[in-house]
Amino acid sequence: MSKKTFYITTPIYYPSGKLHIGHSYTTVAADAMARYKRLQGYDVMFLTGTDEHGQKIQRVAAENNMTPKEYVDNIVDGIKKLWSLMKITNDKFIRTTDEYHIETVQKIFKTLYDKGDIYKSEYEGLYCTPCESFWTETQLVDGKCPDCGRDVEKTREESYFFRLSKYQGRLIKLLEENPEFIQPSSRRNEMLNNFLRPGLEDLCVSRTSFNWGIPVTFDDKHVVYVWIDALSNYITALGYLSGNDENFKKYWPADVHLVGKEIVRFHTIIWPAMLMALDLPLPKQVFGHGWLVLEGGKMSKSKGNVVDPVVLIDKYGLDAIRYFLLREVPFGADGVFSNEALINRINSDLANDLGNLISRTTAMIKKYFEGIIPQEREKGEFDEELRSFVVSTKTRTEEYLDKLQFSSALTEIWKSISRTNKYIDETMPWALAKEEENKARLAQVMYNLAESIRIISVLIQPFMPETPEIIWRQLAIPENQRTWDSAGIWGIYQQSDAVTTGEIIFPRIDLKKEMEALSALTSTENQSQAPAAPKKTVDEKPEGIALIGIDDFAKVDLRVVKVISCEKVEKSDKLLKLKLECGTEEKQVVSGIAKYYTPEEMVGKTLILVANLKPVKLRGIESQGMILAASNNDKLVLVTVDKDIPTGSKVS
Ligand code: MSP
Repeated sequence: MSKKTFYITTPIYYPSGKLHIGHSYTTVAADAMARYKRLQGYDVMFLTGTDEHGQKIQRVAAENNMTPKEYVDNIVDGIKKLWSLMKITNDKFIRTTDEYHIETVQKIFKTLYDKGDIYKSEYEGLYCTPCESFWTETQLVDGKCPDCGRDVEKTREESYFFRLSKYQGRLIKLLEENPEFIQPSSRRNEMLNNFLRPGLEDLCVSRTSFNWGIPVTFDDKHVVYVWIDALSNYITALGYLSGNDENFKKYWPADVHLVGKEIVRFHTIIWPAMLMALDLPLPKQVFGHGWLVLEGGKMSKSKGNVVDPVVLIDKYGLDAIRYFLLREVPFGADGVFSNEALINRINSDLANDLGNLISRTTAMIKKYFEGIIPQEREKGEFDEELRSFVVSTKTRTEEYLDKLQFSSALTEIWKSISRTNKYIDETMPWALAKEEENKARLAQVMYNLAESIRIISVLIQPFMPETPEIIWRQLAIPENQRTWDSAGIWGIYQQSDAVTTGEIIFPRIDLKKEMEALSALTSTENQSQAPAAPKKTVDEKPEGIALIGIDDFAKVDLRVVKVISCEKVEKSDKLLKLKLECGTEEKQVVSGIAKYYTPEEMVGKTLILVANLKPVKLRGIESQGMILAASNNDKLVLVTVDKDIPTGSKVS
C-alpha cells in the first residue's frame, strides 16, 4: 500500500535583504510539521523558496548597480545557507526565476486568457510598490497603503485583468461551508466581512512599467503580476503542466499552506479563485500565523535586541532558538520577541527542566550502577503515576500538532518533564542508595527515569533536531527504540551500552551578564563618544610593530564581503558609507577612502572586513567594522581575494 502523503508549504521569501528571526518563524513551524509527519510515516513534500520578480527587486538591484538576477542570486544563496544552518528539511526549494516555473506560469496565464478568465483592459489605480499591491481610493488608510502604511503611486496603463469578481459567490460558499479552510477562524471572518461580502473587483494581473517579471507570451510588453507568478509556485514546483507531473498528481492538493497573517488575503481569495479558474482542487487549509515583533516596533527596525538568526544560533544553539520560536507564542497570535524572554525560556525550560533531568539521571545511573541499570528491579510507589502520565503524552502532543498548536504540544511534553523531575523528588534515589537492600528499588527508579527520558527524546524530535541525538548517545538508546510509535509504549528502553554523562546540553545563562553582552553588540548610543575619525588608512605609519602570537591574530575576525551599495557621507570629503553583504548578514561600514574611490566603482567589489571591531559612530553614522586597504604615502588600494568565494568566508 502506498504511504499517505502530506504536502506543506511556506510562503516563498522576497530576497530583498537580510532575513531576521521573524522570517524564520514560518519556516521553522513548517519544518516541525514536516518532521512530525515524516515520523508518523507520511510521505512528505515540504516546499519553500524565493519570490524573485517585481518592481521592488528591479529597483534595489539598479540602486546597487547590478542586474536583478545578479542581485537575487547573491541573496538567495544566503537564504539557502540560513535554512541549512537551521536544519530545515525542505524537500524542494523553488526560485521563481527557475526556467520550469517561468514556463508553467506562462502556460497558466495563457490558459486563463484562452478561457476568458483573463482579458485586456486599462488600469488606473494606486500601487504600493513595496507590497506589490493595487488599491482603490477607499481601501487606503489616511491616503497610504493599508498593509504597510507607506505612500502609494497613481498608475495608468494598459493591463490584463483576472475575472476575480466572477468567483465571489464560490469563494464565499467555500469559506462558509469549510470552516477549516482558513485557520485560525478569526482570519476567516476577516476575509468574509472585509473583502468577500463587500464585493470583489477584477484584479490587474500584468504590468508594463517595468520588465523584471515573467513575460506574457502573447503580448511581450507585459509581465505577469508578481502575486500570480508567486502563488503559482505551489503547483509549478510539483511539475504541473510540465512533461513530468508525477509529483503534482501525488501531492496536490496541499494539506496546508503556512503563511503570515498579512498575506492570508492573497492565499484565501486570489489563489483559490485561480485554482477554480484552472479547474484544480483547492488546498485543504491556509493557516495564517501572527507576527513576532519587538516591543514598540518592527523586527526590521531592531534596536537593543539581537534579531539576526545566525548570531542567535551561534550564541544559544539551534534547538534553543527553534524551541523558543515555537513555544513562546501560541501559533496564530502575535508575540513579542526579546532577548530577555529568550534567555529566560532557555534557563527555565531547557537548562532547568530538561537539562537538569538528563544530567541528574545520567549522573545517578553512573554513580550508583557504573552506567548499567541492573535487571533485578522492584516496583514501588509513584511508578504507576509516572508511567500513565508520560505514556499518554504522545496522544496529547499529537492532538495539538494536528491543529498546528506547537506551543501547546510543547507544553504537554514539558508537563511530562516536570512529572519526571517530581518523581526524582518523590522517590529520593540518594536516600535509597544508602542501603544495599534498596538496590533493586533504586534500579527500578533509574529505569523509570531513563524510560521517561527516552519517550521525551522521541517526542521533541519535530522541534529540536540536535538534542535527541545527544540524549540517545548519553543513555545508549538504540535506533529501534527511537521510533515515533515507541513513544506511546512504556517499558521499551534497553540500553545498548553503559550510560555516559557528557556535555551539559543547555548551560544556564547569567541573564544580567548576557544582557550586557548583547547590549554591547547592538547598542549604538554609547558609541557616540568613540573617535570621530575613520580608521587611519594613509598617513599614519607605525614606528615599530610588536610581534604578536597566533592567539592575538585569531582575535581578529576577518571576513570576505561584497559591497551592495555605497554613497558619500554628507558634508565629508573623506568618508564613504558602504553596505556590505557578509554571508547572511548585512554590515554597514564608514570608510575614509572617498579620495581614492568613487561610490560607483565600489559597488560589487569583494573586500576583506574586520568584522568584530566594536561599532563606532562616524558623523553620526554607525560603522560596524573596517575594510582592509594597503597604503603607501598618497596611494591607497583595497585588499581583495584572488578567486571567487562566498561572502562571509573567514580569512585566516
Ligand atoms: N513573497 C511573499 C510571499 C509569496 S507566497 C506565494 C512574502 N515574502 S516575505 O519574505 O515578505 O515574507 C515571508 C514570510 O515571512 C511571510 O509568511 C511573513 O509573514 C513572514 N514574516 C516576516 N516577518 C515576520 C515576523 N516579524 N514575524 C513572523 N513572521 C513574519 O510575503
